[in-house]
Amino acid sequence: MPANDAPSASPVGLSVTDALHRRRSVRAFTGEAVDPAILKTVFANAQRAPSGGNLQPWQATVLAGAPWQRMKDAVAARIAMGREGRQAEYDIYPKGLTDPWESRRFGVGEALYASLGIPRENKAGRLTQFMDNYKGFGAPVMLFLHCSRIMGPPQWSDMGMWLQSVMLLLVEHGLASCPQECWAMYGQTVRETLALGEDQILFAGLAIGHPDEDAAVNQWPVARVGLEEVIDWQGF
Ligand SMILES: Cc1cc2nc3c(=O)[nH]c(=O)nc-3n(C[C@H](O)[C@H](O)[C@H](O)COP(=O)(O)O)c2cc1C
Repeated sequence: MPANDAPSASPVGLSVTDALHRRRSVRAFTGEAVDPAILKTVFANAQRAPSGGNLQPWQATVLAGAPWQRMKDAVAARIAMGREGRQAEYDIYPKGLTDPWESRRFGVGEALYASLGIPRENKAGRLTQFMDNYKGFGAPVMLFLHCSRIMGPPQWSDMGMWLQSVMLLLVEHGLASCPQECWAMYGQTVRETLALGEDQILFAGLAIGHPDEDAAVNQWPVARVGLEEVIDWQGF
C-alpha cells in the first residue's frame, strides 16, 4: 500500500499528547494475535516520518508465528553459549557512561525491578527478567529495524523518528510495544535468521502486541528529568 493512501484519521480521536503519555515500554503482552491490517495501516502512516534529505533509511522485517519462533530459538542457542555467543552489532551505550546519564540508566533499571519485587541481591531473578527480552516479553509480533551499513548518525536519528511514529500509531490502535536494542547483542544471528545481507546493520527490535494491563511490570511510573536539565532557553 503506498504511503499516501494511508488512512489519515485517528480511529479513536487520540491527540498526539494523549498518545505520547499513553505510550510506555510494555514488558508483558497478552499473546492475543495482532491484526496485520492494523500493522499495514500503522506502517503506511509512519512513512510520514521525516528524514534528512527524505532518505527514509529505515527498513524493517516483521515476524509472527513460525518465523518469530525460529528467531527466538536461534538467539536462545547463542545465549546458551554464554559470553562466547555474543555478537554486539554496536556499543549499546557509550563505554564509560558518566552522569547524569549513568544515573538515569541505573534508576530506570532499579524502578523496573522494584515493580517486580526483585531486589538487587536476587541476581538470578533479575537475569530471568532480562532474558524475557529475548522472548519479546510474550509479544506475538516482533519487528526488527535495520538499515544500510553506509548510514551514519543522522540516518540513525531518522530511524528513531520512524520508530517513535510507529509506537505512537500503535497506541492509537490500542496496541503496545517495547523497543529492544538488546537484540543487537546477537546481531549477526538476527541478521542471518532474517536472511539480511551483510550490507545491513540491525538497530533494534520492537515487540508488538496487546498489553497485559494487569501486569505490575506495565504499571510503574517511568520518571523523566525536568526541563531545566535538557532545555537551555536563550533570548526569551
Ligand atoms: C532504541 C531503544 C531501545 C531500547 N531497548 C530496550 C531493551 O532492549 N529492553 C528493554 O526492556 N527496554 C528497552 N528500551 C526501553 C527503555 O528502557 C525505555 O524507553 C525508557 O526506560 C523509558 O521508558 P518508557 O519507554 O516506558 O517511557 C529501549 C528503548 C529505546 C528507545
